[in-house]
Amino acid sequence: VRNAENRRIVLASRPEGAPRLDNFRLETGSIPIPGPGQVLVRNRFLGVEPAMRGWISAAKGYSEPVPLGGVMRGFAVGEIAASNNPDYQAGETVTGLFGWQEWAAVDPPAILRRVTETDLPVSTALGVLGVNGMTAYVGLLDIGQPKPGETVVVSTAAGAVGSAAGQIAKIKGCRAVGVAGGPAKCHQCLTEFGYDAAIDYKAVADIGAALRQACPDGIDVYFDNVGGPILDAVLEQINLGARIAICGTISATIGEGQLAPRPNRQLLIARAKMQGFLVLDHFGRFPTGLAELAQWIREGRLTYREDIIDGIERAPEGLMRVLAGANMGKQLIRLAD
Ligand SMILES: NC(=O)c1ccc[n+]([C@@H]2O[C@H](COP(=O)([O-])OP(=O)(O)OC[C@H]3O[C@@H](n4cnc5c(N)ncnc54)[C@H](OP(=O)(O)O)[C@@H]3O)[C@@H](O)[C@H]2O)c1
Repeated sequence: VRNAENRRIVLASRPEGAPRLDNFRLETGSIPIPGPGQVLVRNRFLGVEPAMRGWISAAKGYSEPVPLGGVMRGFAVGEIAASNNPDYQAGETVTGLFGWQEWAAVDPPAILRRVTETDLPVSTALGVLGVNGMTAYVGLLDIGQPKPGETVVVSTAAGAVGSAAGQIAKIKGCRAVGVAGGPAKCHQCLTEFGYDAAIDYKAVADIGAALRQACPDGIDVYFDNVGGPILDAVLEQINLGARIAICGTISATIGEGQLAPRPNRQLLIARAKMQGFLVLDHFGRFPTGLAELAQWIREGRLTYREDIIDGIERAPEGLMRVLAGANMGKQLIRLAD
């Protein structure tokens, strides 16, 4: 371990508009020495989140902006190489906010959990058995509250969160309709993720007409990852008592207002509910949710896709892929052994 290097991605500058590769910089340093109470983690996979666009912007969000020159914030999974904490042992696999770096000396609050699903690939701890799977679980079940026979629409339907949300809707006996970009993702929605219908929002001329055709009984639950015109079209077709879970706003540019019809009339007429949520407020649901998600995977009822690229130097490219919709499944960065 000694004399080895720690490579990390730091934030070089704040993006003006869409993030670019040159907003990041690869730095090499020495492996950190864990302080009192800390553990040293060797990261194996890094996660890429659309939310990173917000984390690196100076605009006010739900978390502090990543400081300039600081290691890029991000989830990772890896093994404990050394521990100064009696609660953690060397050799344990853990996941948490360890940052875009090969090695991390972290305080225990940065650790989200021990990874105990040894029968499943360790990378799942960053996707379907990580924040993405739990976002789908909490957002659909607790916020969306689907009932058997209802119609559930999911946007970014083939993505890490969306693909899980659509499959959970099916497990709960709903009609699931996915909205995704491009024929490959729509094909995946139908053949891998079990959606009853898939709409390619990039190809259809009229998203409202496409939704009406795919949802002949109207829309009871909308799991919204995008906002924008797709949300506007959904609002026109919600049923009495509909629930709209606002999970993400990836179609909107940070800090830029969107001109759109006001939703109050549709919400009033349908006596509907629209609620934003952050998965990080729902840690109490993780033990139950992760156990259930893992069980569904083992039973073959829940499947997932990962889009893996190799090498920490390519992590910023991973973010560009996600923001361009080029990722097919959970975007991950695999680090060398
Ligand atoms: N509330 C929470 O606690 C929470 C937690 C985690 C994630 N999220 C949100 O969940 C959503 C999905 O995240 P994920 O990690 O699963 O990523 P993902 O869906 O695997 O990847 C992002 C996808 O967003 C779509 N996209 C990108 N730019 C877009 C645009 N301009 N308009 C419409 N769609 C666009 C692309 O899919 P298409 O090709 O299909 O457009 C892209 O593949 C994001 O909005 C994220 O912020 C929320």
